[in-house]
Amino acid sequence: MSRLHVIHENPAWIGAFTDAFDARHVPWTEWLIDHGKVDYAAIPPEGVFYNRMSASSHTRDHRYAPELTLALLHWLERHGRRVINGTSALDLEISKARQYARLERAGIRVPRTIVVTGKEDVLNASKTFFDAGQPVILKPNRGGKGLGVQLFNTYAGLSSYLNGPTYEQPVDGIQLLQEYIKAPEPYITRAEFVGGRFLYAVRVDTSEGFELCPAEACEIGDAFCPTTATPRPKFEIIDDIDANLKESYERFLSENGIEISGIEFIVGQDGKIRTYDVNTNTNYNPTAEAVAGRSATLAVADFLGGLVREYYPLAS
Ligand SMILES: Nc1ncnc2c1ncn2[C@@H]1O[C@H](COP(=O)(O)OP(=O)(O)O)[C@@H](O)[C@H]1O
Ligand SMILES: [Mg+2]
Repeated sequence: MSRLHVIHENPAWIGAFTDAFDARHVPWTEWLIDHGKVDYAAIPPEGVFYNRMSASSHTRDHRYAPELTLALLHWLERHGRRVINGTSALDLEISKARQYARLERAGIRVPRTIVVTGKEDVLNASKTFFDAGQPVILKPNRGGKGLGVQLFNTYAGLSSYLNGPTYEQPVDGIQLLQEYIKAPEPYITRAEFVGGRFLYAVRVDTSEGFELCPAEACEIGDAFCPTTATPRPKFEIIDDIDANLKESYERFLSENGIEISGIEFIVGQDGKIRTYDVNTNTNYNPTAEAVAGRSATLAVADFLGGLVREYYPLAS
């Protein structure tokens, strides 16, 4: 039957969408692709396909789900199916290096980054930062949820981490060494886009660390930051961002076939904005949304439901 197919590998992130699709009467089904097969000789089902494959799937034991999904998306696109966040979106989801090249191509400033593989080369490349008296961020090229993102102030500290028991090789073998953007206040902003258009932004308090997944299923303890004198929520919706930045982001998304996305940026002490993460399977924070009276999941349901009706007027 013609309907919306949601391609994903993490059932914990689907609940909010289930409610929204049902509330908006969007006929839908899941395509759980934590593992499985794609028969290239078959014809794909009719429908509109929404890809939510995540860069962090390997942390849920789904190491090859992105690769399998890429094959699935190519097959769907080859058969002319309407795919939201298709092959080009997934290509960027699983590589921050490719994100940065595409962001810069769209005129968007990114943090200074060195792409490197192997511990020895990571250590050698880190001297570019340490020799200039700068700390460095180490992060996996294929990231997600802030896992493996660490700040180092010294070469010795980086070396002992790389050679210590907690170090994990990045899943695609590629590390990024990155300029640390020290914000005057400890927060980052994540701008949410639905249908390629800006919806709202979330200000995220970073004083407790780098693991910032906004999904309810990822929430660790209290959503409020206990370290500030006047507690403010960890996730807080703000209605707007810089108009030029918004326009650049919308152009970047359109150039790269991304329709639903959360893009993260930091404003540094020099007042300049640097963009460092593009999420194509974005999750939304229900606590912040309740306070602001907004619902991105409903906006997604409206957008996708509209597409199903456009492509399949008789679907129900
Ligand atoms: N270059 C940087 N300077 C300062 N903080 C950073 C930088 N890169 C990442 N962070 C912090 O670490 C968090 C996770 O990094 P991110 O690149 O978004 O990885 P992930 O894809 O795992 O979410 C960010 O939200 C931010 O708080
Ligand atoms: Mg991030």
